[in-house]
Amino acid sequence: MANMVTVDNGRALRGLRSGAMEEMLDRSAHELYRLVHRTGPGAEFTGWLDLPDRIGPALLRRIDETAASLRNRADVVVLCGIGGSYLGARAGLDFLETGDDRATSSRPAILYAGNNLSPRSLRKTLEQVNDREFSVIVVSKSGTTLETMVTFHMLWTELVHRFGEPAARSRVIAITDPAHGVLRTMAIDKGFVSFDLPQDVSGRYSVLTPTGLLPFAVRGFDVQAILQGAAQQRAAAMETQSQDNDTLVYASTRRLLGRSGKAVELFAAFEPSVHYLAEWWKQLFGESEGKAGKGIFPATADYTTDLHALGQFVQQGSPCLFETVLRLRAAGADMTFTSTPDLHDDLDYLNGALLSSMNQAAEESTVQAHGEGEIPVIQISAVDTSERSFGAIVFFFQLSCAIGGYLLGVDPFDQPGVEMYKRALHALLSTPACQRSTDLP
Ligand code: PA5
Repeated sequence: MANMVTVDNGRALRGLRSGAMEEMLDRSAHELYRLVHRTGPGAEFTGWLDLPDRIGPALLRRIDETAASLRNRADVVVLCGIGGSYLGARAGLDFLETGDDRATSSRPAILYAGNNLSPRSLRKTLEQVNDREFSVIVVSKSGTTLETMVTFHMLWTELVHRFGEPAARSRVIAITDPAHGVLRTMAIDKGFVSFDLPQDVSGRYSVLTPTGLLPFAVRGFDVQAILQGAAQQRAAAMETQSQDNDTLVYASTRRLLGRSGKAVELFAAFEPSVHYLAEWWKQLFGESEGKAGKGIFPATADYTTDLHALGQFVQQGSPCLFETVLRLRAAGADMTFTSTPDLHDDLDYLNGALLSSMNQAAEESTVQAHGEGEIPVIQISAVDTSERSFGAIVFFFQLSCAIGGYLLGVDPFDQPGVEMYKRALHALLSTPACQRSTDLP
């Protein structure tokens, strides 16, 4: 089965001792074996490995029906969640939009809420749904995440105020743990339509569950094609020999760079619609690897925009980083540059050039310049911005990341540091002084 995502590490491993890559590839292959045979740390959270097959026809039908009903009744769907219960959906929705408004104008707009505690942000969301038919998809595996649950409470109050409680109930879809937690109890009590966030899948590995699939279906994207792309990439990773196995090559290259002292991985793409995919990538690697005093700090850049902000540092600043550039052809119509001689803008030499070719030239120049600056660059290529590609990219990064965690000797599926913040916030907000005061200590 062909890799849908390919890796070129030719500009990443200059000066490497001979044999080091082969050794690391062997170790990566061993970690892949432990992952697949469920013998590594966090094995009880590796259900995401099977998701491309596990999402059966009955669940797909229910996702389709729920999406159709949301399309019929809502102008706006508010997606309420944070972290892994939010970023994958946003990543996919932005990535898959073609920029052709005619194709999607009849579908509900998606607004995002519950991913911060800013009153200004929530007020803006409430203003945006004011006088519009809206529904809410609330996603929280635990049902205790404060950002999500406080925001959902406010949205629920607004729904009841606008439509009355019986109608409000039919405007909420809850995605949460199948059996436990406040949100599951609430869904049962209020009779919300609900979907399971499987217990063996942790938040940042949940894009291919209803957490991502339902919002994708609401916007009319082909959910089955997403799963097929993931299945194809999984098959490629399982069946290909180490040196040609792009998933293992990426995991091994990162590990070697990390071991050589590179503390930061800067993930960049030359397509703004990839911004939230990068944010998802950042969370995936940050939460999976950053523990026990280990891990590569994941940072992101939007090129070419950030070439005019971070480019200087990347080229000549502290040599702490390596770059991972995601290359793909974005969907949507291209544009041709036509010169206008009497404008005297010195751009006549570009007459007839496609904007996409200029973007590609910017990418090649960047990789060349950064290479000359001795910045290791890993180039990852995806086919395009189709549903199949998206599924493949998601699976590729999840698998590389899990292997990367095992190579580091950490459990890539827990997030004890995040739980510490959640507990501290609950404790602080429970103190009487804090409940009364607008000034936090
Ligand atoms: O990856 C994770 O597990 C976390 O980022 C969670 O998704 C995030 O903290 C939200 O948690 P919950 O879904 O329980 O609200």
